Amino acid sequence: MTVPTLPTVRLGADGPSVGVQGLGCMGMSEFYGPTDRTEALATLDAALEAGVTLFDTADAYGFGRNEELIGPFIRANRDKVVLATKFALERKEEDPSYRGIRNDPAYIRAAADASLRRLGVDEIDLYYMHRRDPAVPLAESVGAMAELVRAGKVRRLGLSEVTGAELREAHAIHPIAALQSEWSVFARDVERTAVPAAAELGVAFVPYSPLGRGFLTGAFQAAEQLAADDVRRTQPRFTGPNAAANAELLAPLREIATDRGVTLAQVALAWVHQRAEVHGLTVVPIPGTRKRSRLAENTAAATLRLTAGELARLEPVAGEVAGDRYPDMRFTQVGRE
Ligand SMILES: NC(=O)c1ccc[n+]([C@@H]2O[C@H](COP(=O)([O-])OP(=O)(O)OC[C@H]3O[C@@H](n4cnc5c(N)ncnc54)[C@H](OP(=O)(O)O)[C@@H]3O)[C@@H](O)[C@H]2O)c1
Repeated sequence: MTVPTLPTVRLGADGPSVGVQGLGCMGMSEFYGPTDRTEALATLDAALEAGVTLFDTADAYGFGRNEELIGPFIRANRDKVVLATKFALERKEEDPSYRGIRNDPAYIRAAADASLRRLGVDEIDLYYMHRRDPAVPLAESVGAMAELVRAGKVRRLGLSEVTGAELREAHAIHPIAALQSEWSVFARDVERTAVPAAAELGVAFVPYSPLGRGFLTGAFQAAEQLAADDVRRTQPRFTGPNAAANAELLAPLREIATDRGVTLAQVALAWVHQRAEVHGLTVVPIPGTRKRSRLAENTAAATLRLTAGELARLEPVAGEVAGDRYPDMRFTQVGRE
């Protein structure tokens, strides 16, 4: 058995102690090509053994099947893991690309009950609003989430892809333990308002897609290399001339990885951990993987220290990235900043 080496941090001001890197479970059910259920389940166990304790899912991943997949693992390790799931993304199985956003209280109550049922647990440790519908006042949506805490169905609240102003407003309604938004060497728009607000409020930041959805690892250079139903085929950064231009931007990551005898993935993850220090906030990145073979590599990055010179070489990269993070940026906090 591997001895856990991952340092721990507190998730939010009075939050639980978690390994400083979590595990994104999304790809185990959908979006990034074919999956192997047996290997995915073995990856959950291996992650826990490596000191990973924050496990991230959502009701939208695999139309609920991701929650069902990880449920038995969560139940078997209930006192050792912190379970995070999300509501708000409405989907239609007959039209997989359809996305609606629902923040109304009746929807939130029903979504929480459905997640609890699929996961087979009595309480969700961290319940995120996956996307904000600006037509619904935060007093209503966060108010409904706070009721779930009072009802004992949810322990702590989180938000995803909100602006700094929205985070402040929500935090005044009920304490927010964590903000989960995209943050990587390639995606730094959160540093404008969301990260400073989280630092000011003592809200932990959970960077999603810290490996740029795998692109930062060098595993693929263009959408055409991916499975026909891989969602990255629809993302502007990975298609057409953008993909070729963005692949060139990996040069400093590659050079640092070679100099230091580490992998590109490790450079990318170390960058997120260290960038948080600049902003003075706690981060718990949740790299996603379906494979045991990635775990030692990814967790080791939490203690890799990049030098000031290496960080300086990575500093301009995000500003040069071609293409948006999503086909429709109205679904992100950027669309409301
Ligand atoms: N709140 C939101 O809106 C939102 C949006 C997206 C994602 N998320 C959450 O964040 C988690 C992580 O984001 P993500 O999965 O989109 O992107 P990511 O963590 O940046 O990258 C995941 C991709 O990288 C590959 N990978 C992982 N470790 C690797 C390594 N060491 N070397 C080479 N390739 C490696 C994975 O493939 P293998 O599986 O083959 O290892 C997968 O294709 C998700 O699982 C999900 O829980 C949240």
